[in-house]
Amino acid sequence: MKFPDGFLFGVATSAFQIEGSLDADGRGPSIWDDFAGESGDLGTVACDHYRRWREDVDLIASLGVNAYRFSIAWPRIYPEGRGAVEQRGVDHYSRLIDALLERGIEPVVTLYHWDLPQALQDQGGWRSRDIVDAFAEYARTCFDAYGDRVRRWCTINEPWVHGILGHLGGLHAPGEKDLRGALTAIHHMLLAHGRAVDELADGDAGVAFSVFPTYPASESDEDREAARICDGYHNRWFLDPVLKGGFPDDMRRLWEERIGPLDFIRDGDLETISTAGGFVGVNYYSRGVVRAKPGKSPLPYEVISARQMDYPLTGGGYEIAPWALTDLLVRLRDDYGETPIFITENGAIYDEAPHDPERVKFIEDHLRAIHDAIERGVPVGGYFHWSFMDNFEWALGYEPRFGLVHVDYETQARTVKDSGRAYARIALGNGL
Ligand code: FCB
Repeated sequence: MKFPDGFLFGVATSAFQIEGSLDADGRGPSIWDDFAGESGDLGTVACDHYRRWREDVDLIASLGVNAYRFSIAWPRIYPEGRGAVEQRGVDHYSRLIDALLERGIEPVVTLYHWDLPQALQDQGGWRSRDIVDAFAEYARTCFDAYGDRVRRWCTINEPWVHGILGHLGGLHAPGEKDLRGALTAIHHMLLAHGRAVDELADGDAGVAFSVFPTYPASESDEDREAARICDGYHNRWFLDPVLKGGFPDDMRRLWEERIGPLDFIRDGDLETISTAGGFVGVNYYSRGVVRAKPGKSPLPYEVISARQMDYPLTGGGYEIAPWALTDLLVRLRDDYGETPIFITENGAIYDEAPHDPERVKFIEDHLRAIHDAIERGVPVGGYFHWSFMDNFEWALGYEPRFGLVHVDYETQARTVKDSGRAYARIALGNGL
C-alpha cells in the first residue's frame, strides 16, 4: 500500500512538552510554568530538549521522516507577550529549522500550542480581545523570521481543548472555570487564526483541530440528537466558522440559552476567521459514543467511557477506532470541501518500551484508514505521529508515554522503540 508522492510522514511535538530550560535565553514565564495538573508534575525540565535539540534532530532524522511538526514558544519570542522581541529565542528556532532542512526534513511550525506568555494572561489572556492583535504581531514576527524556510504553519493547536479544559474545566492552564469565558477565549483563538492568515504573505496555514467524531449510543431520537450536539460542541463550532464562514445555528441557540447574547462575536469577525488558510489540521485520537443525559452541564449528553464497552483500548483507555478516522476524513471532504487535510496528530499511550507491538499496530491501522480515505478521493497530504518522544503530557504529567522514542527522565537517555523503527520503514518506503 503506497501513499501519494510527496506525502508527508512526520512526527510531532510541542515546545512546552519537551523543552525545559524555562529561564534560558531570556524566555518569559508562561501560564504552564507553575501549573501542576492532577499529576502534580511540572514541565520545568521535561525532555531537556532546549539543550539537547541537536541530538534530537539526529534522532528524528533516524526515524526516516520527511517532516517534523513542532511549536514555537511564544514567551521565548516575546517574553513580555508584546513589545520587545528576544533575538536569542528567534535564533534558537532558526537554527532548529536549518538543522531540519539540512537533513531533508520539512519543518511544520505551530505558533500556539498553549504556552501563553504569563504577561498576556495577566491582561485577561484569551478572554481579552486585545490578545488577537498580540497574536497577529507574534505571527508576523515568526513569518518574517522563518517564512523563507517554512511553508506550512499551524496557527492554533486544538482551540477546543485549550478553550474548554483551560477555561471551563480548570484542568489545564490557566485553570479557569467559566463557560462564557471559555466561549470568549475560543472565539478569540479563531479570530487570532484568521488574523495570522491575513499576515501570511506566502505559504499555507491551518488550525490543528481536535476533531472528535461522535456516534449515537442507540438509534433513539434522543441519542442521535445527543451525538449531534456533541458534534456541534467539539467540531462544528470550530470547523463551520473557519471553513464555511458561519456558526451553526443549533449551537448558537444552545449557547445563548446558557450565557445570553454572544456579544464577543462582532461584525466582520466571521470574514476574518474564514480567510482561506490552505489546509485543515486534524488531530485524531478516538471517537465518542454519545447518549442523551438531560440536565447535564454544559450540554445534555454524556460520552460513554470506552472502558464500559467491549472495544479495543489503548493503554490510556481510549477506544482504538481507526475506521472512525476514515469516516471523519470522508465527512470533512463532503461537508467542508476539498481543502487539503493533514493529520497533524495521531497516537496512543502504551507503557511498554522498547518493545511496543501495540503501538506498531495502532500506527499501521491508522495509516490504512487514511489510505482508505485517500482512495475515496479525500485530499490528505500527510500524517504526523504524536509523538516523536515521550514527553510532558500536560495535566497527566510524565506517566503517559506517547513516544516513538522512550525517554528516561532520570538520565534523559533516549531509546528508539520498535514502533520508531517500524515507522521509519513505513516513512522510507512511503507506505506499508
Ligand atoms: C493533544 C495535544 C498534544 C498532546 C496529545 C496527546 O490533545 O495537542 O499536545 O497532549 O493530545
